[in-house]
Amino acid sequence: MPKQKILKFPAGFLWGVSTSAYQIEGGNVNDWSQWEKLEARSKKLSAEGKKPADYICGSACDSYNRYEEDLDLVKNLNCGAYRLGIEWSRIEPEQGQWNLKEVEHYRQVLQAAKAGNLKIVLTLWHWTLPLWLTAQGGWANKKAVEYFVRYVELIAGELGSYVDYWVILNEPMVHLANGYLTGKFPPNKKNIFQACKAYNNLTKAHLMGYGIIHKKFRLAKVGLTMLTNYFEPARRWCAGEWLIAKLANHCWNDRFVKKLKNKFDFLGLDYYFHDRIVWYPPFKKNLNASVTGMGWEIFPQGIYKVLKNYKKFNKPLFVMENGLADAKDNKRAKFIIEHLKYVHQAIGEGGDVQGYFYWSLLDNFEWADGFAPKFGLYSVDHKTFKRSARPSAKVYAEICKNNAVEVD
Ligand code: FCB
Repeated sequence: MPKQKILKFPAGFLWGVSTSAYQIEGGNVNDWSQWEKLEARSKKLSAEGKKPADYICGSACDSYNRYEEDLDLVKNLNCGAYRLGIEWSRIEPEQGQWNLKEVEHYRQVLQAAKAGNLKIVLTLWHWTLPLWLTAQGGWANKKAVEYFVRYVELIAGELGSYVDYWVILNEPMVHLANGYLTGKFPPNKKNIFQACKAYNNLTKAHLMGYGIIHKKFRLAKVGLTMLTNYFEPARRWCAGEWLIAKLANHCWNDRFVKKLKNKFDFLGLDYYFHDRIVWYPPFKKNLNASVTGMGWEIFPQGIYKVLKNYKKFNKPLFVMENGLADAKDNKRAKFIIEHLKYVHQAIGEGGDVQGYFYWSLLDNFEWADGFAPKFGLYSVDHKTFKRSARPSAKVYAEICKNNAVEVD
């Protein structure tokens, strides 16, 4: 038997799981649901041999109705925290008209989470927009800031007392890159000028949202999440590759955060990617010795690197998302353990990492990739909505219970 080493995490370390409103709730009407149903998109998917129905979010995991069951699953994992989202388009389906029934719905969800003794991490914007705002140009329109701030104000006033950690924006860079440069996500643009406008408006939205929440709750913990990549020069001696890796790190991981001028109380890192940079197109050549169901390289030491990189901001750090698509569940337990080993190392070297959230609680709607990727600790039958624990759920539950991970 190989010798086992137990790595203890600091007292009070927050163990959790992450979800987002659109990906699990079902029944939402917004820019994504509109885009998913476009005829041109269905045709394209059919031409690629895919079933368009698998790419329509529809009822998702029906978590809107099954939130109590979901909260029980979070508790079964021995998690002390749950990250979930609010869907703006439910709260403000028409411009300036609040749907207070939906506010009440979220109040019940949050009350139930509190009754279960869970700390709440609440995401206010996770990529989706109400249709009326999409029609006005989404984040590229400067008015979006004012509209968003109004929504933040309402949620803070109505639901703020339940919230332990606020994530104002989820991964703004992903929305900008996929929405405005590659065109893979709504609003499906390839327009650098609009991307720049949206970039500025998103930073303003964060800054103003931060101010509003703090005005109501002086001690609130308000932050954001960033999709962090570890960019590594393929050959350290190659100045070109080193330079591109540095530049990529600045543009992708750091720049948006720097623009916020310290107006955040913690940073949420989402870690899935490592890019091995070469100086020639397409500028990346990963070894891919082991990959996830998404084809993403498994590179656990990268989480240590991105945590180290964010140490310079001198704020508490949370891994707000880390996980993999693994339908057979034969890589997930090892994946979690290996990543945690490196999180532990970062803490050991003085990193102020205060929590780890696995993505995701459930198999859910993985955006442009539809229902095929299976990220859940619990699988979901999308016809009956039955949730079933995968074997790795037990492993994660043990880790959360012991506040420790056992490694080779
Ligand atoms: C992150 C997103 C999350 C999920 C995971 C796999 O970038 O925030 O919604 O799609 O990737």
